Amino acid sequence: MEWKEAAALGAVLACIKPRRYGRAKAAKGAGMPLKKLVAGNWKMHGLSYDLDEVKAIATASAVYPGVEVALCVPAILVERAARAVPGFAIGGQDVHHAEKGAHTGCTSARMLLDAGATLTIVGHSERREAQRESDSEVKQKAEAALSVGLDVILCVGESLEMRDSGQAVATVTAQLDGSLPQQLEGEAWLAIAYEPIWAIGTGKIPTTDEIAEMHAAIRNGLVDRYGSAGQEVRILYGGSVKAANAAEIFAIRDVDGALVGGASLKNQDFVPILAAAASAG
Ligand code: PGA
Repeated sequence: MEWKEAAALGAVLACIKPRRYGRAKAAKGAGMPLKKLVAGNWKMHGLSYDLDEVKAIATASAVYPGVEVALCVPAILVERAARAVPGFAIGGQDVHHAEKGAHTGCTSARMLLDAGATLTIVGHSERREAQRESDSEVKQKAEAALSVGLDVILCVGESLEMRDSGQAVATVTAQLDGSLPQQLEGEAWLAIAYEPIWAIGTGKIPTTDEIAEMHAAIRNGLVDRYGSAGQEVRILYGGSVKAANAAEIFAIRDVDGALVGGASLKNQDFVPILAAAASAG
């Protein structure tokens, strides 16, 4: 189904009954492909009136039950967004690793959960750079979020300098090794987002071979750490994903979804990406 038809159908359904957006498990079963996850990262965008956009995206996403969809909004918008679209996955973009305490301006995992979030991003490169977050800090954040039952999207990615010097895979593998939670336990899921820093917001993306090579290396790292459970951790690609390149990206082996920045802010840009994920199966 085309996204325009999907949006129209979603609007009709929304008038008929209150929407429910059930959470699905990542894995369909042993050996089966993982259900694709497409998460929007709104970064520092979003005011009260943008809740209409959240509602439009949530409504349209109900037309693609084969795709898991989430929006990670600024912390201050989480509660209102979660109330606006009951059952749709609303997430935060960061958590503090501590349970509580003297950490001015920070948000704990339990606070996000309490506000209605079901997931959070951790270790985004914009935070790793600007807030100087280390791998071990990212690991603690991921563990803190998982321990309260928040699903986690953990970001890794190399700089252009590392890519150009042939160190991309080594850099990301080391980052992953230092940032992964020690164990996977409980109900909450972990996903990894591979986001080359040089591809974020630039319109540039790696070649399909480069994405495939990196996702295979990440898969190996996950299996090394978690055994067979590592096969069920979704690996998302992020960095300049948009309608025009989504189908090509989703067709790459071990690409189990996308983390989308700029193109997640508007329904008309985001929904075609969901449609591409649905077609990729
Ligand atoms: P972009 O951002 O899609 O705007 O490149 C992706 C991200 O930073 O998560």
